[in-house]
Amino acid sequence: MRTVTFIPSYRKIEVEPGSTILDAVQRAGLNINVVCGGLGKCGKCIVHVQSGKTNFDREKFGRFFTEDELALGSCLACQTTVESDLQVFIPESTLIQEQKILVDGQETAIEFHHRSGNIMLNFNPQLSPIPPRIFPGCSGASRKPEARLQKKCMLR
Ligand code: FES
Repeated sequence: MRTVTFIPSYRKIEVEPGSTILDAVQRAGLNINVVCGGLGKCGKCIVHVQSGKTNFDREKFGRFFTEDELALGSCLACQTTVESDLQVFIPESTLIQEQKILVDGQETAIEFHHRSGNIMLNFNPQLSPIPPRIFPGCSGASRKPEARLQKKCMLR
């Protein structure tokens, strides 16, 4: 078994010699771009081998890198096999960041105190559309960009 350590998370995983770095990445529970499914066609699974011995076909897949990048250990995770213990850096551009869905939040009631019954609002409906439930008088206000500078809304 060979130990592959991934930087910057420092996650370690043991794999059989001859496994691809992509296998190790996935077994370590990390998510990286594999747009072509590991066929060596997209060039999105780029990692940098910092130490250890690997097998990577530069003739076939070197087109994704400059000579300097190859000299620094850049390779495709899906086309590089693990031959010894490795330390592999996964750049941010290769990692798929965890996406979080906001399922809870905090609502804040807004109270308006005005005397005239008219109020001028400046808003950009593209950036911050005014919800009609908060401003019922604005429900008919145009949301077109050209009409976004100033709307006169009647509040009751
Ligand atoms: S996943 Fe496409 S080149 Fe590696």
